[in-house]
Amino acid sequence: MTAQIIDGKRIAQGIRQYTKDKVNKLLRVPKLVVIQVGENPASTVYIRNKIRACNEVGITSYELRLPQTCSEANLLEAIRSLNEDPTVDGILVQLPLPSHIQSGPILEAIHPEKDVDGFHIYNTGKLVTTGGGFKPCTPAGIIELLNAIGYSLEGKHAVILGRSNIVGKPLAMLMLQENATVTMTHSHTPNLSYYTKQADVLVAAIGRAKFVKADMVKKGAIVIDVGTNRDENGKLCGDVDTDAVKEVASWITPVPGGVGPMTIAMLLHNTLLSAQKRQGIL
Ligand code: GUN
Repeated sequence: MTAQIIDGKRIAQGIRQYTKDKVNKLLRVPKLVVIQVGENPASTVYIRNKIRACNEVGITSYELRLPQTCSEANLLEAIRSLNEDPTVDGILVQLPLPSHIQSGPILEAIHPEKDVDGFHIYNTGKLVTTGGGFKPCTPAGIIELLNAIGYSLEGKHAVILGRSNIVGKPLAMLMLQENATVTMTHSHTPNLSYYTKQADVLVAAIGRAKFVKADMVKKGAIVIDVGTNRDENGKLCGDVDTDAVKEVASWITPVPGGVGPMTIAMLLHNTLLSAQKRQGIL
């Protein structure tokens, strides 16, 4: 059996089109401000893609570039003024920040109603309890991928590799809301294969090239690959050894073209939601 490919690019395009149609109906054009501190090359590429995607759906975007030497106080001041600017619907501080700036206080300085990344502890708390806040974009995108192939998590066993605040932990909460049984694994989990082989849905988000091998996957499992790595030849690859695992799985996300496009689509969608709320539509 060869797995079917979950075409994240096509599914993301559907969400972008939906967002564009809704943006067109708003009285005021939504605005997203993306803050980059320093010159991390990967961040520069991610931000360029986010800005381009905003333009495509009619969201105004503004990139605020601060120098590597920027102090925490300067960054907090910039966020404070964006919080107060009524024309700004979304504020995103691209991570990682330079090592002299703690991300916690920065993310908490963003007004929760403009926190389109869903990283503020208020939105994190809502995710864990009642729901209804902004959902972090990558986990929300993974849920959309499963919806798009008509897969219900009800009663299924989801196993997540990686416990980051951006992907693993919030994804566990979203999957619990869908009535999955969720197992979290990480770098200190002994006998990892014992868990991964039980997964109906296996999500790899550990940042290690081609880490998940075919013998770690149950026959017919759905495999979601969040990784963006370079292999030994410098070629883009995920956390999953896709060529081997696709002979065991029933569905699999490619890298590139799987989870990545969904993260950006959900960011646009969150920015739309913010603008709708702020314009009294939701
Ligand atoms: N760095 C890597 N992924 C993300 C993301 O989704 N949002 C932000 N702000 N920074 C990131």
